[in-house]
Amino acid sequence: MTIQERANPLTKLFGSKKRSKHQESGARDLKVFEAMQAGKPVNDALLQQSAKDHLWMHFTRHSPFFNGKDINIIERGEGHYLIDSKGRKVMDGLSGLFAVNAGHGRIELAEAAAKQTMELDFMPLWAFAHPRAIELAERLLSYAPKDLNRIFFTTGGGEAVESAWKIAKQYFKLTGKPTKTKVISRMTAYHGTSHGALSITGIAAMKQMFEPLVPSTFRVPNTNFYRADPRFKDAEEFGIWAANRVEEAILFEGPDTVAAFYVEPIQNSGGCFTAHPSYFRRVREICQKYDVILVADETITGFGRSGHMFASERYDIQPDMMITAKAITNASAPLGALFLKEKFFEPFKDGTTIFPHGYTFAAHPVACAVALANLDIYDREKIVENVNKNSPIFRKTLEKLYDLPIVGDVRGDGYFFAIELVKDKKTKETLTPAEAEKILRGFLPGAFWAEGLYCRADDRGNPVVQLAPPLTIGPKEFDELERIMRKVLTEAWSKL
Ligand SMILES: Cc1ncc(COP(=O)(O)O)c(C=O)c1O
Repeated sequence: MTIQERANPLTKLFGSKKRSKHQESGARDLKVFEAMQAGKPVNDALLQQSAKDHLWMHFTRHSPFFNGKDINIIERGEGHYLIDSKGRKVMDGLSGLFAVNAGHGRIELAEAAAKQTMELDFMPLWAFAHPRAIELAERLLSYAPKDLNRIFFTTGGGEAVESAWKIAKQYFKLTGKPTKTKVISRMTAYHGTSHGALSITGIAAMKQMFEPLVPSTFRVPNTNFYRADPRFKDAEEFGIWAANRVEEAILFEGPDTVAAFYVEPIQNSGGCFTAHPSYFRRVREICQKYDVILVADETITGFGRSGHMFASERYDIQPDMMITAKAITNASAPLGALFLKEKFFEPFKDGTTIFPHGYTFAAHPVACAVALANLDIYDREKIVENVNKNSPIFRKTLEKLYDLPIVGDVRGDGYFFAIELVKDKKTKETLTPAEAEKILRGFLPGAFWAEGLYCRADDRGNPVVQLAPPLTIGPKEFDELERIMRKVLTEAWSKL
């Protein structure tokens, strides 16, 4: 439906001459609304101005938009492409936000949403259930590690992070270990923005403005092998060292005070940190020994990103709880799912005990119907198998970039890779803050876009460029990604 078509029902509803209270006050300029009311076309210039005047974009530095820079306004998604309001077509190298794993514009998802809206548009999961939530819970469990048996739905990843912590706290209170409340997580890891999830997040710069946060969270090293001390002979030795830091933190805080350890199977923030299997083996042992809940945050790695349906299976993590969101619906509707072992639910089976926590739209019937249809697509098109088969080719293609002086490291797994940018390959000298500002924020995003690629340039750790394209692509698209990377990174080097 075009914007003009969308304007007509509004015009019908309000009458084209009727002015809203807001307009009468004269305090604001609502030009898009006025154009829609009048049935007039809404062009790019109007959208730009309105976005600048009225939208508060997330995690966004707005100042460039008040100094003449246009906002990239995305109007359409088709397969692995995005089309903006100026008609430019760019490859979606980030699956929206690690979420549109099966590609954009899936008609089956729209149909499932429409059908569900007609059948049951909404009921909360508060003391009621509905068929789509029940069906989806079992369907999700059918792909999950076998000892996970229960699903707590949310509307996204951060809420699932938050819910897992609250369940952990209440579980230990109900089972005679009331002082087990603390959470350990990894440096530079991102787990969400609500106060609880942000407390677990390991990025100091993101937290400073919101202190004091929820107390009782602690950080241990992540598994950034590229930046590891050279004394480690290989990733295995380093991995075991990093896992032992979890034990050290538990012992330092006191095992009877630590509730959970949160870990992403492949850590996104910092740039796709994988770990040697020994890391997860050792972490599993440690959590077992001290009765600390092992929480795998698969908000990004879930639903095929790693080449397995869940990365917990790929790396044999054996989590006690597993967080998923994003690609669960192919991002066509907001939904998160926290998977749990049955033991966490046991204390809630008796008497008057409840978990006093929930979200209005968690397990929204439309989102659940969309998720079920999305999983049908996964099964039918063998989406996960495609990643498994092609991931080594993707890696090899990106590793060709090692001949560029700015490329220090290419790392990741599945369809999830980071390229770390350096000033000196040999010494691994990183960019100064001023250079990172100039290159990562000032140059790369615009240059990638101009070359036809949306991806992420990030310096929450060391500077990286990240790729997490839809899981439907193959070697032809890998070549295109490499070509664009080569061109843009070559130019970036000349600006350093
Ligand atoms: C690992 C991880 N956990 C949690 C979150 C928060 O998810 P949401 O934005 O859906 O709340 C994210 C978001 O990117 C994430 O990557």
